[in-house]
Amino acid sequence: MKTAIITGASSGLGTEFVRLLTAAFPEIESLWLIARRRERLETLAAQYGDGLDVRVLPLDLCDESAFKVLSFELESQRPDVQLLVNNAGCGYLGNLGEMDTATQTRMTKLNVTALTAVTNSVLPYISRGGRIINVSSIASFCPNARMTVYSSTKAYVSSFTRGLSEELRRRGVYVTAVCPGPMETEFLDTGGIAGNSKMFDTLPYCTPEKVVAGAYAAALAGRTFYTPKLFYKFYRVLAKIIPHSLKLKLAKT
Ligand SMILES: NC(=O)c1ccc[n+]([C@@H]2O[C@H](COP(=O)([O-])OP(=O)(O)OC[C@H]3O[C@@H](n4cnc5c(N)ncnc54)[C@H](OP(=O)(O)O)[C@@H]3O)[C@@H](O)[C@H]2O)c1
Repeated sequence: MKTAIITGASSGLGTEFVRLLTAAFPEIESLWLIARRRERLETLAAQYGDGLDVRVLPLDLCDESAFKVLSFELESQRPDVQLLVNNAGCGYLGNLGEMDTATQTRMTKLNVTALTAVTNSVLPYISRGGRIINVSSIASFCPNARMTVYSSTKAYVSSFTRGLSEELRRRGVYVTAVCPGPMETEFLDTGGIAGNSKMFDTLPYCTPEKVVAGAYAAALAGRTFYTPKLFYKFYRVLAKIIPHSLKLKLAKT
């Protein structure tokens, strides 16, 4: 069955990826939803289960046993994966050494290890014409003090996307990194960001619906990067040309 797999589907951008899926990829017949909160995924399954065969996988991607469950599902179902959206992610505000180790390493486990493991497990099931969307961030453009681990994980996501896209070019599989600015999602409260960062209070916000619509269009066009909003497109170019010392001062969270 032509399948889409979306991680972090239970809220924010992930739910939007689910909502706009069939408009962008009408050929999809089966949808696999991954996140920890089972009830949220089941609600989505009930909502979209009419036209789609929806499979709920309530997995904690910070726990490596999740990758075994996913591999088992892939081996038993042998889906024809047309779209993989690596969206699950988290970001915590705070200096290194002032936050507990479990919180700091949750970002590397989810944003880096899980994204890598899920992609590696799903890739054998992606055929020619398939798409992978990796949700990165404007934080990948330059290190952000007070979010050093988060911005480093997103730099990995962007670099991983660039490399993988070259690896898969001949196979006809397209990989796209999506680099949004701040969005009003649970991310801000979970990460202790809301109300605690002048930078987040000042920056222009992106709308999840527009980000996903743009991400799907970029993936379908085979583009390696998609940065929503002119403001952030300009920031991306600026980050490539201004010296690190200045960038680090400007991009402090
Ligand atoms: N919001 C922003 O300002 C912003 C800006 C740039 C980029 N981003 C990126 O956008 C992506 C989506 O975030 P969002 O803004 O939509 O935030 P969100 O509403 O907090 O969504 C995060 C998603 O990841 C899932 N998740 C978290 N921990 C998980 C785990 N251990 N295992 C499996 N799933 C897990 C959550 O589901 P469960 O809790 O049910 O597991 C949820 O579905 C992330 O990669 C984030 O880094 C966000």
